[in-house]
Amino acid sequence: MTAPPMKTLALQLLARAVSSKALDFSQLLKKRYCQALFLTAFTLTAQTPQELVAKRCLPCHNNQLENANLSFEDRDKVLAKTNKILAAITHKGDIKMPPGPKLPDPEIATLTAWIRNGAPGLKASANPTRHFPFELWTFDRLDTIAGYPTKVEGHPRVIDSPAGKAVEFNGVDDALFIEDHPLADAATFTWEVIFRPDKNGKAEQRFFHLQERGTQNRFLFEIRVKGDEWYLDSFVMSPTGSKAMLNVDHRHPLGEWYHVAQVYDGHQYRNYINGVQENQADLTFTPNSAGSTSVGVRINRVDYFKGAIAKARFTKGVLTPAEFLTLKQ
Ligand code: HEC
Repeated sequence: MTAPPMKTLALQLLARAVSSKALDFSQLLKKRYCQALFLTAFTLTAQTPQELVAKRCLPCHNNQLENANLSFEDRDKVLAKTNKILAAITHKGDIKMPPGPKLPDPEIATLTAWIRNGAPGLKASANPTRHFPFELWTFDRLDTIAGYPTKVEGHPRVIDSPAGKAVEFNGVDDALFIEDHPLADAATFTWEVIFRPDKNGKAEQRFFHLQERGTQNRFLFEIRVKGDEWYLDSFVMSPTGSKAMLNVDHRHPLGEWYHVAQVYDGHQYRNYINGVQENQADLTFTPNSAGSTSVGVRINRVDYFKGAIAKARFTKGVLTPAEFLTLKQ
């Protein structure tokens, strides 16, 4: 495709502005017509703003890894930080981005114009976790988890693992109890856990349990063990509907790290292992009210879990597998 003359002109103007250094980009880019001109020019250069961002910023600022709560997959987030981003790439404040040498001027100009123009081409709020309230629990210590004081029973211990620090439970009497129900009031939810079920545990184990105070309403993650393999059971109970999804046909080796998720979208209840859906069922679920949590055992201290837990995320909304936590740190 040959470029229309207007675009060619824009490109030449840009090139001249860049090489002469006579122009102050930040001043220039405050003018609407200049922004338009630059944008036109950028569409002709090999590096679109998105390509630039993908190379320079996205590795550290994406939906999974939101350094400084900034994701370049999420337009709302980028626009909310316009001033900080412009200051960071022009080295005008405390935070200089990307870490290391300053970007070449043409790249700064490209990014500046693109952001000032509303970051076209990015999905608005691509990351629903930002709009859904969520809690991330990291099992890197015993005395508190996500700021909640724990009641420690037995001798669970903190270990290093490919998934980061984790708490290991002996399957006999180790457990943590927390006075919080992180999915209380959730009408839809995504509950993720990164864990490692170990060999030589009991046939039926409960590794994570959220329970409404004073009732039987609850959320559970369980496993069943057959030889050196396990399969998942996820369970929710509410006054209007309850469901156990036992994935008998989906066995996995014990002793490895897994991401498990249970998701409810208002109609369907699903569970996943490593982002692959294993089971699905209709469910009419109404939210739990406040309650408490046990980790490593059922809340009434039966069916202890043998293995380790690294992380859990509780999102009051529906995430797609692409948005799940990643197994590696
Ligand atoms: C190697 C990883 C890495 C890369 C690449 C990177 N950043 Fe960052 N960025 C970080 C980290 C870590 C922080 C938070 C650290 C801090 O506060 O100093 C951060 C903080 C920021 C902040 C501050 C946000 C706030 O609210 O305080 C902005 C703005 C920013 N980055 C923009 C960018 C832009 C634009 C790019 C690409 C041109 C980029 N970053 C590339 C790691 C990175």
